[in-house]
Amino acid sequence: MLIDSFGRTIRYLRVSVTDRCNLFCNYCRLPNETLLPNNRELLDFDELVRLLRIFLQLGIERIRLTGGEPLLRRNLVGLVQEISRLPGLQELALTTNALLLERYAVALRAAGLQRVNISLDSLKPQTFDAITQRHLMRPDLFAERQEQQGLPAVLAGIAAARAAGLHPVKINMVVMRGINDTEIVDMVHYAHQHGLLLRFIETMPVGEAGLDMADHFIPAEEILEQIQRHFARQLLPIAGKQGSGPARYFRLADSSAEIGVISARSRHFCDTCNRMRLTSKGSLVYCLGRSDRMDLKQLLRSGAGDEQIKESILAAVALKPQQHEFEQKEFYRPSNRMSALGG
Ligand code: 5AD
Repeated sequence: MLIDSFGRTIRYLRVSVTDRCNLFCNYCRLPNETLLPNNRELLDFDELVRLLRIFLQLGIERIRLTGGEPLLRRNLVGLVQEISRLPGLQELALTTNALLLERYAVALRAAGLQRVNISLDSLKPQTFDAITQRHLMRPDLFAERQEQQGLPAVLAGIAAARAAGLHPVKINMVVMRGINDTEIVDMVHYAHQHGLLLRFIETMPVGEAGLDMADHFIPAEEILEQIQRHFARQLLPIAGKQGSGPARYFRLADSSAEIGVISARSRHFCDTCNRMRLTSKGSLVYCLGRSDRMDLKQLLRSGAGDEQIKESILAAVALKPQQHEFEQKEFYRPSNRMSALGG
């Protein structure tokens, strides 16, 4: 088992497979960002699968593939197939913006993917475009651009995920005052109608873009209040549905509608943190709200044996800090970009 210095058991690894993305979300990327990762900097599939096998031997039970946008990584389906066969794995999930999901949902399910979380911040095409800023992308870098239709593609991806049996489909909405906060109730309706589990996420000051969005921050309590006011009903905490992540879940009284909130800022959940992050370039990040990390790629490429890698991972777990440092200025360095940290 992986137990850190504060007694927390680390069972969950978020694995970024690329830091490229086919969206340019305002809370994640800066307009002038020219992110062009060199492919050789990424862990290749053999390296990744070897590392994940070792993590599972050490006590990781659940793996989530993220990005950037993970569906942009070539042959992600093949990677899913390899990872899903690794001994000790209890759950394999994916976080995606769903632009390309319609094309891959069935193959991903068949390859062993169990479920998906989908980022969707607006149901209005104009607001969706204003947040995701696809016009800022360099078109020459994305052969896929022909099939990028924005919101309709995402909605088709969500439907495809449900039809493929990737269950439950969770929707993540980053709530920003003055940008999409008038859509909180619309989202509750949409998710309920389509059998999706909706989670509202407080905007986090991760990376420079996230910091720029700090003025748009809305605390989770205000989101909950807005829903209760609209429906004139209480939101009742669902005991035991804490999941294994940071969301707190609620059910609308006299209804089957359920929602979650992830309040990383207003009410941090560091005490029960159970995760670490592996960047696409092979660094192990101990905490989303800190800069510290360990370079595992260098170790792999220097010919280290499994035992040596295990020792380094154990050393990394021992370095996991007690709390995030979102409120401290030194944290906001470009290397802390969400697209590199895997959300
Ligand atoms: N604040 C809050 N949530 C964020 N995400 C990405 N950047 C931020 C941020 N600055 C969300 C994405 C995705 C999840 C993995 O993280 O919308 O749903």
